[in-house]
Amino acid sequence: MEHQIDLQGKTDQQSFEQLLALFETLGSKDAVVATLGHHGEGVVNLLQGQIWGAFEWCPLHFGPPSWQYVLTRTSTKLPKRSIGEFLGADHQRCDALFIKLEEASQTDDIAKATVLFNQFRTGMEHHFAMEENVFFPAFEQATGMTQGPTMVMRMEHRQMRGLIGQGGQALAQGKLDGVSKAGSTLMILMRQHNIKEEQMLYPMADQHLGNNVDTLVRNMQKLSSVEKVAQ
Ligand SMILES: [Fe+2]
Ligand SMILES: [Fe+2]
Repeated sequence: MEHQIDLQGKTDQQSFEQLLALFETLGSKDAVVATLGHHGEGVVNLLQGQIWGAFEWCPLHFGPPSWQYVLTRTSTKLPKRSIGEFLGADHQRCDALFIKLEEASQTDDIAKATVLFNQFRTGMEHHFAMEENVFFPAFEQATGMTQGPTMVMRMEHRQMRGLIGQGGQALAQGKLDGVSKAGSTLMILMRQHNIKEEQMLYPMADQHLGNNVDTLVRNMQKLSSVEKVAQ
């Protein structure tokens, strides 16, 4: 079940209390879609203080004027989080958004495809920003490897941004077949990229970053503004 809640005009504390009350009622497959009048950093801070390890908080839309996030339960409550499980779960979320977009692109429903494309693009922008602005710099600092895997991953992000941009242009021209075409190349790149991260980079990072991992994941989850990918 999906709950919708409009928190525009509420303070961080009021938003947090309403979200927490709804969260307590959530089953494992339920979600709360929250619309805020500002970015959610203050709210996610309060959620982390109270239910850290038990929830995911992911963006569907970045404003202004409004910001939208989805709040769900993690499969099991984790005392500490790791790069591998946190970013791996976000890969799965972005994959699921992509599959929904692909399905909509097979129909003639441009309005639906546009909503889903924007959610997918926001998810990908956010994921790239979490890696490029928080995770990669910490990995590079801890290992001294600045010309290694993170350099390759940044390059692949650029390629994926290019394809997302192409999909956006096709959509703006009403060409859903163009969205599918850019999407199939993107899917191949995404799969290969995610496997490299999940099997190599994330485990290396969890090993090297040790006690800093939990804080790093908190900071990634709080990231509420991202650079836009090519339109
Ligand atoms: Fe990546
Ligand atoms: Fe990733």
